[in-house]
Order: sequence, then C-alpha cells, then structure tokens
Amino acid sequence: MSLSRWFRSPRIFLLVYQRVAAHWRAIVLLLILACVAFLVTRSAEFGRFELILLALLLIFIASQIFWLGRLVDVGERFIPGRPRRVWLAIMTVVVYLFVLLDSYPEWGLGHTIRAADYRPQSVLIHAAFWWWFVGSMSAFLLVIAFGAADRGVRAAGWVYRKARTAIHQRPAAADAEAPLLSRARRRFLERAAVLVSATPFVAASYGLLYERQNVEVVRQRVRLARLPKAFEGFRIVQLSDIHLGPFTTADYIRRCVAITNGLGPDLIALTGDYICWDPEAQGEVVQVLASLRAPHGVFGCLGNHEADVGIEDSITRLFAAQGMRMLRQERVPIRLRDDTLNLIGIDDGGDVAPEHTQEVERDRRLQRLKALVMPNTVNILLTHYPAVFGDPELGIDLTLAGDIHGGGQLSLDFIHRGLNLGSLMGVPYIRGLYKNGGEQLYMNRGIGITGFPIRIGARPEITVLELTRET
Ligand SMILES: [Fe+2]
Repeated sequence: MSLSRWFRSPRIFLLVYQRVAAHWRAIVLLLILACVAFLVTRSAEFGRFELILLALLLIFIASQIFWLGRLVDVGERFIPGRPRRVWLAIMTVVVYLFVLLDSYPEWGLGHTIRAADYRPQSVLIHAAFWWWFVGSMSAFLLVIAFGAADRGVRAAGWVYRKARTAIHQRPAAADAEAPLLSRARRRFLERAAVLVSATPFVAASYGLLYERQNVEVVRQRVRLARLPKAFEGFRIVQLSDIHLGPFTTADYIRRCVAITNGLGPDLIALTGDYICWDPEAQGEVVQVLASLRAPHGVFGCLGNHEADVGIEDSITRLFAAQGMRMLRQERVPIRLRDDTLNLIGIDDGGDVAPEHTQEVERDRRLQRLKALVMPNTVNILLTHYPAVFGDPELGIDLTLAGDIHGGGQLSLDFIHRGLNLGSLMGVPYIRGLYKNGGEQLYMNRGIGITGFPIRIGARPEITVLELTRET
C-alpha cells in the first residue's frame, strides 16, 4: 500500500485512534519519562519554571486526548442514525485541528497579534480557543481527582466488606443488594462526573465574559513610620499591566482612567506593561492614558513587554509628550509644602540575557538603586517586578509593583492561600501588601491580561494607597 493510500484509509486511522485512545495513559507516561530523561541530561539549563511549563504541556496533551474520546462518545450516542465511530473520530479530529491551528495566531506571528488582526472573528475564535484551553485542562484535572476519590472510596468499601465477612464468618446478606446499589451508584457517579467536569467550563465562561473586566477599587492604608507630616493622607493611585490589545480595549482602559480620576488621586503611579506584544499599540495606549489627572503628576516605570519588543525609548518619548514621566533609573522629588518624598523608577529590562545569572542581574540593579535612594527621606520605588525587594540596607520604604496579574490570572486563593498559577510557578509575591522589616511592597493585580483572556479569582485592580504615619 502506498503511503498516501495508507493515510487515506479510514481503517488505519481507526486503528491508530483506537490504540491512542486505549493507551493514552501509557503514552502520556512515556512522554513524561522521555522529557524527564531529557531534562536530567540537561538539568543545568532548566529550572522550576521550565518544568512547570512542561507539566502543563503534558497535561494539555493528555486532556485533549481524553476530551476527543468523550466528544466521540457523545456523538455516537446522540447523532441520529448511529454513525460509525471511525467517521465520528475523523470528523472530531479534523474539526479540532482546524480550530486549534486557526485560533492561535501567535504561532505564526511570533507572539504578536497585529492591530490588523483585531477583527471580531479573530477575537471570537481566539476567545473560544482559550476558553477551551483553560476549561478542558481544569476539567480534566478535576475528572482525574474525582476518579481517584471514587477509586479510594471503592477500595475502602472492599476492605470494609472483607473485614465484615471475616468477623461474622458469613457473606453479608446485604451483598445480594450489591448489583442494584452498584447500578444506582454508577448512575449517580456518572451524573456527578458530568457536573464536576462542567464546572471549569462555566468558570472559564465567567472569567472570560465578566471577571476579566470587573474592575475592583482596592483601598490600602500604608503606614510609613518616617512619613513627613505634610504627606499624611497622601493618596497614590496605582495602575499596572494595562496591556492594550484585542481583549483589553481602549474603551475599557478609558473606563479605568475615568474611575482613577474619580478617586481624587494626589499622584498616579503606573507600573509597566502598557502593551501586549504589538509595538504599534504604544501610541494608542499613551493617548488613552493621557487623560489621567493628578495634582502631583503621573509617573511610571517600564515593564518587560516594553523591553521585549524594543519600545522602551519610543514609549518614554510618547509619554513625555503627554506630560507623563517614565522614571528610568531616575528619581524625582515630590514636594508638598516644606516636605519631600523621593520617588524612584527602574526598568524591568525584560528577559535577562543568557550570560547573566539572576544573581548577577539582581546585584546590578541593587547597585543602580543604591545611587538613587535618599537618606533621611521616604523612598518610594516603582518597579514592574520587585526583584530587589527585601534588602534592608537599601533604604526603600515602599515598593509598588505588578507583573503577576494576581497569580497568573487564575487563583483559588479563597480556598487556600497560595493556590494560584503564580505560586505554582514559584513566584514569591503575588498580590496585596507584603512587609519585610521596615520595607513594604504592594503587588497590584493589573487591569489587563496577557496570554489567555480569562481571569478567575483575580479581578482587575485599581489601587488607592493612602499614606499615613498612624498605626
Ligand atoms: Fe503584565
């Protein structure tokens, strides 16, 4: 048989499909083992982050095989005329591959969605892809957990029945009812499994359609022991991770700007990531942010997205033309009557060059910062990611940062603190206020998104930081 006929033959496809569907657990295990072997041989080049990404990839592959199998099951059951499984499998895989390849344009564009791609149909397909991505992976994990719990209960029941038989020396009379109970139990379990697996898809819909732009105004009092008297009650409103793009539109950012102005800020702080991946979006985002108003000015720092696409200089000039100042390894005195605060800003710098270890990079930033800190003054630092937080000798009183999007936009912190994507990746600072001796850090959840256009348990945030000397 020629190769083309081989591929065209439905029987061969069915055989391959059946083998994959029947042995998907073994295939995933083999993939894991192969990747682990690869990582062990090259362990010096991989860290925790890469391992987590690998685990996510493997979970994604396993979940897609699982859900394709379930889709074929559903088709077999509900499509009139009971179509042959092989055709259903072919149709399902073809539709799946088409949607997968068509709905993730970054694959072809090196992570850049150009402004020309903000067409409604692209946005819709993109949204559907990410809804499926988040929903199917989470549901798969829940189904696995549900199955494991069911097996645990069954094993406990088996042990209990054996023990009871041994003690009473007779097969339990109740065992006659077993088949009946088993059928009822199976029906209950099937319904429960459907309910459990549907929950993540409902949650993903909520996160995509509602929570993604359900902005929360967070009011946070920050006690600074050496705050000058004139600054008692001084209000800094912080915006972070704007990410203008197809899912964080100019209209939505305008709404955030209006909310910010309505909060009566004394000073506005922007902590980086103004675009997603498209350098052409810089003009529009600056134009929208130009409506921000505060008597002591609008200041900011740059994020990794500005560095990664090489627009640090150009966006700084655009901001400056609108009267907003990006602090790039700079400080500015904020004066009120006879008192002064020292406001510092540093670049994120984006991806660290491979020849730099993280320690070297951290030391370099520390040295830069030391020159900007003013003794006997309250020093407030704007930085996209707080890489230098926690050095008592530095003399920073308060750091304002963002970057983590409230735990990678997916967080179940309301169940258990630390149950979020960011913590899973080993990020130490996720959201809210952190204290380390005399130094404090506020982690803003941001107002925009990158990657999947979904937020669950991590609402967008505008923060009002009220400075005080009082306890
Ligand atoms: Fe960001």
